[in-house]
Amino acid sequence: MQGSVLGPQLLINMGTVLKVLVITVGVIAVLGWIAVGITWGVLSSQGPEPPELKPLDWWEHCVLYQIYPRSFKDSDGDGIGDLQGIISELEHFPDAGIDAIWMSPIFESPMIDFGYDISNFYNIHHEYGTMEDFRELLQKAHSLGIKVLLDFVPNHASTYSDYFIESEGGNPEFADYFVWADGYPDPENESNILPPSNWISHFGGSAWEWSSTRQQFYLHQFAVEQADFNFRHQPVKDEMINIMRFWLDEGADGFRVDALPYMIEADPADHDGRYPDNPLSGLIQFEPHQLEYTIPLYTKDLIELYDVVYEWREFTDQYQAEHGGDTRVLFAEGYANISMTMLYYGNEDGKAGTHFPFNFDFITDLSSESRARDFVYVILKWLSYMPFGAVPNWVLGNHDNNRMPTRFNESMVDGLNALNMLLPGVAVTYQGEEIGMRDGYVSWEDTVDVEACNRGDEDTYHLYNRDPARTPFHWDNTTSAGFSISDDTWLPIADDYMEINLAKQKEDARSHYKVYQKLTALRKHTTLSHGEYDIRAFSDSSFYLVRSLRTYDTLVLLFNVAQTADTVDLSRVPHLTLPATVYVASIHSSRDAGDIIDREELTLQRGEALVLQAAPI
Ligand code: GLC
Ligand code: MG
Ligand code: CA
Repeated sequence: MQGSVLGPQLLINMGTVLKVLVITVGVIAVLGWIAVGITWGVLSSQGPEPPELKPLDWWEHCVLYQIYPRSFKDSDGDGIGDLQGIISELEHFPDAGIDAIWMSPIFESPMIDFGYDISNFYNIHHEYGTMEDFRELLQKAHSLGIKVLLDFVPNHASTYSDYFIESEGGNPEFADYFVWADGYPDPENESNILPPSNWISHFGGSAWEWSSTRQQFYLHQFAVEQADFNFRHQPVKDEMINIMRFWLDEGADGFRVDALPYMIEADPADHDGRYPDNPLSGLIQFEPHQLEYTIPLYTKDLIELYDVVYEWREFTDQYQAEHGGDTRVLFAEGYANISMTMLYYGNEDGKAGTHFPFNFDFITDLSSESRARDFVYVILKWLSYMPFGAVPNWVLGNHDNNRMPTRFNESMVDGLNALNMLLPGVAVTYQGEEIGMRDGYVSWEDTVDVEACNRGDEDTYHLYNRDPARTPFHWDNTTSAGFSISDDTWLPIADDYMEINLAKQKEDARSHYKVYQKLTALRKHTTLSHGEYDIRAFSDSSFYLVRSLRTYDTLVLLFNVAQTADTVDLSRVPHLTLPATVYVASIHSSRDAGDIIDREELTLQRGEALVLQAAPI
């Protein structure tokens, strides 16, 4: 009975439960789908959001190119490069992907130090052209979107300058323009006068030169014909501002500032009225006339010099505020230790310095001997010491040092250019690096560099000679590499110009120049202008540099800096997802642009560099 009574009831109840269940499941399902739908909607509409991008000033991610005007292009067949020559080749810069040029000095000069000895800071050197030529150069460069920086040489003037002639002659207006000092009677020889201190010139010999006219010594930290200005004298500081203002008024976009560490020397007032001797280095292989014999305690990196630099920055900022237009920049030249170098950016009190000091670490700290770990260490050194928010920069060579492929290795040209272009900040190229120009051979007879001539002799000049890095640019395979219609050029043309020249590299299917063009084009990529970096060695031979930015492609440089092949494991590269595409490969690579990399194991040949493009993080 119970069963019969319960039976239908149970049946009825079961039916209700089933209905409820069906309804519940249905509701849950509907709710579930709604929930999934909402989540999906949220995910797909909000996605990983692109980051907010800080707007960059024109110079902050530019490619900056150094022209050595004497060796860039000769327009009039005198065997010497000139402004009309530069004007005729301005198209080279947009073609190569270059944004700004700085020119070594183009001002009136007796050319003892090829323009770094300026006799008139307000005029163009006659071999290079006229003020009209300069104006034309500026106007044409600007119409191509190229900024033009001049070389500002504040530490010294030529002894042929009016400043010096007037100062030496005792004109009261200029009397204190230079560092003049009496000498000391030589106890061993009455007719001899000893210099005020043991300071040694950069180009060898005493830094003091006797003037029979003024009957005093003057200081020259460089050549005898380059007299150091007296930066403890306000009119000199004012004159420097006048010089800068003059060229800014002409339309220059800023300055590379020369030889800053040497600007100020110890003040006799702090040393019992005497110029203090520099301490001896104790390096017995050097003789007293050689730079390395002493430590430049009283002649280099003096803290007072930075105040002058900070004043210049105030001036250029104020100039821009008054005149409008784009930022006028100051880029500092100074070979100094990392702390003294960083002070050129500014100090802890918030004083702004130059926009950046050139980073010469690739020149001073790395070479063909360096391992991948050295590269990573040296690169991170700059990035670690740089003040917050500052802009880094990378320099592979200049007119004072052996050329990049000569200091490193020819197999490394594309990898080094790639490194330069993929690192954050400004990439600096010295003329010829875009085609991998090597040092030219310059015999003792042909050597004209004052440093080599003063410090060296026939056997040792090559240790100091800066001429090999200054031989003319190789435009093509015609007379004088297309530099000049004359075959008598101021320095010889390097004998490899038939192999290494721009015209050929534009024709060749693969060339350093084509790699360079691809690299500068890649710099327009937001990942490179705004992304994070990560750099680490795989081994002694190879390292990676990763640039990544949320929602933008990840870009990776793989570079084997060794002279043997190396197999790397790409799973170790953060943010790199495979497959990746080869964006550009060094010219001897077996890979080509567009190749797909889908295996984690990858072998890099000696000097091989690959730039990979991969999906965003
Ligand atoms: C800088 C220049 C160099 C010059 C020296 C003196 O170092 O780059 O070429 O000789 O200053 O002006
Ligand atoms: Mg000429
Ligand atoms: Ca000085």
